[in-house]
Amino acid sequence: MSPTYPLVLDLDGRRAVVVGGGPVGARRTTGLLEAGAIVTVVAPALCEDLAVLVDDGRLTWLPREYAEGDLAGAWLVQAATADAEVNATVAADAERAGIWCVRADDARTSAAWTPATARVDDITVAVSASRDPRRARAVKDRIAVKLQTGELPLRRVRRKRTGHVALVGGGPGDPGLITTRGRRLLADADVVVVDRLAPRALLDELDPEVEVIEAGKGPQAHTLSQLEINDLLVERARAGQRVVRLKGGDPFVFGRGAEEALACAEAGIPCEVVPGVTSAVAVPAAAGIPVTHRGVTRQFTVISAHSAHPGEGPDWASLAAVEGTLVFLMGVSQLPLVVEGLRAHGRSPATPVAVIERGTLADQRTTTGTLETIVATATERGVRSPAVIIVGEVVTVAEELATVVRRP
Ligand SMILES: C[S@@+](CC[C@H](N)C(=O)[O-])C[C@H]1O[C@@H](n2cnc3c(N)ncnc32)[C@H](O)[C@@H]1O
Repeated sequence: MSPTYPLVLDLDGRRAVVVGGGPVGARRTTGLLEAGAIVTVVAPALCEDLAVLVDDGRLTWLPREYAEGDLAGAWLVQAATADAEVNATVAADAERAGIWCVRADDARTSAAWTPATARVDDITVAVSASRDPRRARAVKDRIAVKLQTGELPLRRVRRKRTGHVALVGGGPGDPGLITTRGRRLLADADVVVVDRLAPRALLDELDPEVEVIEAGKGPQAHTLSQLEINDLLVERARAGQRVVRLKGGDPFVFGRGAEEALACAEAGIPCEVVPGVTSAVAVPAAAGIPVTHRGVTRQFTVISAHSAHPGEGPDWASLAAVEGTLVFLMGVSQLPLVVEGLRAHGRSPATPVAVIERGTLADQRTTTGTLETIVATATERGVRSPAVIIVGEVVTVAEELATVVRRP
């Protein structure tokens, strides 16, 4: 048998006929309508999906059996009845009239096939596999996932010059914990402005011509000031580039993402915010600590322990009184103050504490103790930033979960 000949059809404004009013006819009709075809459905009765399309005035319905002449003026026919004889008649009429006909019931006798199709942005991938639709679908699904996750290249070489900024939450560090949306935008970026705690392994996958700009943002080391970052994002988008601002965790959790989004809004630059998996929840989880647990606590509070000036830290009296788990970010250098603040306002010295460094990464490390012991233990073990500090009874759940929780 000769190999088939793939084509992409422009059906916009062209007539297509679907013979058959069941679910297969409905699926084919939907695809044709999406392609802009003017569709006539021939069938004595319609399934619900097709009936809705008729009610909405999206197609013409001939409420009867198929008859000779129904294909007049058509470019494409879908023979999708449950009756093989009718489908064969439709296919024979189409062949005589020189119209391509897809038979839904019998690929072997069909003149054309509807491939398994994946569409991501403006890319269409159609897969046909020796008239075996199940195999074609399986291959198409694998390709679709790779396109959606940005594993296959989506970058447009000759793109329209409309710039765009995406504030992408990269998750806590493991490259597998970014969202598929974030990964896709990264695969389409011209320039990536990246934070120190973003999942840096993803940078290795970028095309060589993608520019990577370090924004820094360590506890004491800011390569660029926030204003400089805002200006950079706006300036690059104005120049027509697709800018991804890749951040650790979620852009709106102590990530200054809202300031960047506002800067874009003020400059009239389109900006998309892609949420990320925040370290406040994911890092404890990676260490087997649930921030809430039935019978232990039903609430958790996330606090920045960072204070730019002495005496400017959290309100310890209120925090010590809050029920449930306390999750401190940016807290390693402040650990003695955290302990002192909570103990001074009534938290028991026996309260469990865990400090998790470099959560979800290969060298993740957990240090546990109590409000009484944690400062000495952390000092002894040389605990360093980045780390998440968890205070509360949930820390003890980790021991029970230790055998079942596996790190990504
Ligand atoms: C400026 S905040 C940014 C938080 C981020 N936007 C988020 O949602 O996770 C930085 C702090 O997040 C925490 N952090 C981020 N990634 C971490 C990781 N992989 N392991 C431990 N802590 C982490 C540390 O407390 C660090 O000091």
